[in-house]
Formats: sequence, structure tokens, C-alpha cells
Amino acid sequence: MFSPVKIVGYINDWEAIGLGPVAVLPEYQRQGIGSSLIYAGLEVCCQLDQYIVFVLGHHDYYPRFGFELASRKGFHYKSTEYDPNFFVLELKHGALLGKFGYVHFLPAFGID
Ligand SMILES: CC(C)(COP(=O)(O)OP(=O)(O)OC[C@H]1O[C@@H](n2cnc3c(N)ncnc32)[C@H](O)[C@@H]1OP(=O)(O)O)[C@@H](O)C(=O)NCCC(=O)NCCS
Repeated sequence: MFSPVKIVGYINDWEAIGLGPVAVLPEYQRQGIGSSLIYAGLEVCCQLDQYIVFVLGHHDYYPRFGFELASRKGFHYKSTEYDPNFFVLELKHGALLGKFGYVHFLPAFGID
């Protein structure tokens, strides 16, 4: 699932995309379905001119898609406690330039 996220910066708020949840039925896992879903979704993000995607997830899984630790780019989710599992992907070179802040998922997720 991809949904809008709000980033609260020091000067103004802006929007980007949040990835998750991602799930494949256990009997279909490890066949490349999860990766295909993620790559297809990221392609749609580009088609929609959305070049910044955040995800809160496992550090062994998301870097393979190009996700980097968000904290290294100046982004956090809630508190620094989440830094090891909070990632950002820049789908267009320079999209993150001059941007930073705290990222908020939609209230429907109940995780904010
Ligand atoms: C994570 C998930 C969506 C991956 O789907 P998938 O179709 O199995 O993924 P793929 O076949 O494309 O990729 C499999 C790779 O993901 C890795 N992987 C699967 N689940 C993982 C997890 N929770 N954490 C880290 N790596 C994971 C596998 O080890 C495998 O790695 P390898 O290619 O080096 O062997 C699926 O395992 C799932 O639904 N898990 C339960 C829900 C979940 O934990 N979702 C959030 C993930 S943070």
C-alpha cells in the first residue's frame, strides 16, 4: 500500500508518499512477489510525479530497493528510537535537496 504522508519541517509542511503495509500470503512468499509489488508501486509514484517515499520497516529488506536510512537525510519518524528502521527513497536525483523534518502517516494507520 502507498499513501500520502505529511512532513512537518521547520518552516513549512509538505507531502510525500509512505509505503506500507507490504504483505504476501505466507504460501506465496520468497517468489519475488513482494519485490514486484514494491517496484510496480514505485513506478506509479514516478508517473504521479511523487519522487520521495518513506517506509518504516525491516533494515534487511528495504535497502535492496534503494531505500536509505532517513535519519541520514534529516528525516525522523516520531523519535530517534525509530531511526534504524525508518527509510527514505529518492526516486529523482535532487528530490530531497533542502528537505528535512518529521514524517507523519495518515491517522488511519493508528501509528502516529
Ligand atoms: C516482506 C514480504 C512482503 C516479502 O514478500 P516476498 O514476496 O516474500 O518477497 P520477495 O520474494 O520479493 O523477496 C524475498 C526476500 O525478502 C526477504 N524477507 C522476507 N521477509 C522479510 C522480513 N520480514 N524482513 C527482512 N527480509 C525479509 C527474504 O529473506 C528474501 O530475501 P533473499 O531474496 O535475500 O532470500 C513478505 O515476507 C511478508 O508478507 N511478510 C509478512 C509481512 C511483513 O512482515 N511485512 C513488512 C515487512 S517490513
